Formats: sequence, C-alpha cells, structure tokens
Amino acid sequence: MTASSAWSTDRRRDAMSSEESPLAHWEQRYAGAEPVWSGRVNPTLAAAVAGLPPGRSVDLGCGEGGDVIWLAQQGWQALGLDLSPTAVARAREAASARELGPGSARFEQCDLSAWEPDEASYDLVTASFLHSRVALDRTRILRRAARALAPEGLLVIVSHAAPPPWALAHDHEGTGPTGPHEQMLTAQEEADEIALDPSAWAVEVAEQREREADGPDGQHGHLEDSLLIVRRTA
Ligand SMILES: C[S@@+](CC[C@H](N)C(=O)[O-])C[C@H]1O[C@@H](n2cnc3c(N)ncnc32)[C@H](O)[C@@H]1O
Repeated sequence: MTASSAWSTDRRRDAMSSEESPLAHWEQRYAGAEPVWSGRVNPTLAAAVAGLPPGRSVDLGCGEGGDVIWLAQQGWQALGLDLSPTAVARAREAASARELGPGSARFEQCDLSAWEPDEASYDLVTASFLHSRVALDRTRILRRAARALAPEGLLVIVSHAAPPPWALAHDHEGTGPTGPHEQMLTAQEEADEIALDPSAWAVEVAEQREREADGPDGQHGHLEDSLLIVRRTA
C-alpha cells in the first residue's frame, strides 16, 4: 500500500457519516458551465493504443469523452460509459461537433457498479483516471472489464499514482486531496489488486509515467501516472 492510500484509508472511517451518493457527487462536479476536462486524449493512453488494429472499444468513466472521440478518430467503434448524465451529454455534444463515422463514438449513462458486460465483447477496454472521492468499486469493475475482453484484447488502465495538484482544490470535505474512498496505487499494486488468472490474462505493462499536464479549471501540474496494460490470452 502506498503512503497516500494508507492515509486515505485512515480518512475513510472519518468520512462515512458524511456519505454522498456517487451520482450526486459527480453531477455536482460537472455542474458548472465550463467543461471540467481538456477534451484532449490522455497522451499515455494514446501512446499505448497507437498502432493497434481498430475494433470495438469501451471506455469506463469516460467523462466528457475526450478519449472516446480520439479512439473513434483512429477508427475504433468506441463506446463511453459514465455515471454522470451531464458528462454524457457533453461527450455526445463534443462528438457531434466532429466529423466522425455514424455510431463510431457512442456514449451511455451507466453506473459501472452494476455494469454486466457480455463475455469477450470488446477488443479494447480503457479506463483513464477512473477515480472517485466517493464510493467506487474499482477493483470489481476492472475485473469485469478484463472478462469483457475478446481473446488478444487489451485492458489499458491509466491512473493517478499520486494525487494530482488540483485535487487539493476540491478538498471540500476536509478528507484530503483524494477523498475518503480514493486509492492511488502503483501499476503493479493495481495488477496485484485485480489479481487476474495468469492462465487467461497477461500483464504486458505495469509502470509509472511522469508528465506535465493541464488539469481542470485551467490548472497545470506535474503528474505521476500508473499505466497497466493487460492482454487476454485465452
Ligand atoms: C476523474 S474522472 C475521469 C474522466 C475521464 N476518464 C478523463 O480521463 O477525463 C472519473 C469519471 O468517472 C465517472 N464515474 C465515477 N463513478 C462512476 C460509476 N460508478 N459509474 C460510471 N462512471 C463513474 C465520473 O462521473 C467521472 O466522469
């Protein structure tokens, strides 16, 4: 466990009484008139996916759709799922403003905690910063995502390995920059947590990447990302 996740675990107990529903939390996050995210593809994801033959993809917690739109532009039949109806509406609007093939970028409102994908239905499952300050059963969701991969399909997870500088600006509950539910793991810790059967899934990349990035509300910062890539082998 990292120092930040241990610290987060300590805070979780204190925050239980002020529990907020995930839907209310994320609708509030997207409530402003301006987009929350940059709208550009995450560069770590883009580098990981570049050169793959396009197929069917699904992005978990797609937010305002930047990654899905980029995938559609690369030829993928790309679906984005997100809890927030506001984020989904923004993603659809952003996609319709681009010249994309019909149905190549689709978005659906979906609570991933109840997501039951068909077995072996996607060639690529992506999750960029599928973090939440409120309840999110990330490990269970990512295990299901692995089962949704077709043989040879990839699960590409890009996460914060440490809280981004702008998380401090959203510490409204006083629970710290990551919130009471947040776990920020290294890629290897994440692989250990998901614990996929090695006879059917192979970890191809589990590493940390550092980069400069634009965050919400015009902020800029130095980020440490975890990149975990898993291939379904059987
Ligand atoms: C930190 S944002 C990342 C958004 C986007 N992937 C990106 O990189 O810009 C996390 C996203 O996960 C979504 N989310 C949180 N809990 C969810 C759940 N239970 N089901 C579906 N989406 C969820 C939020 O609405 C939010 O858009």
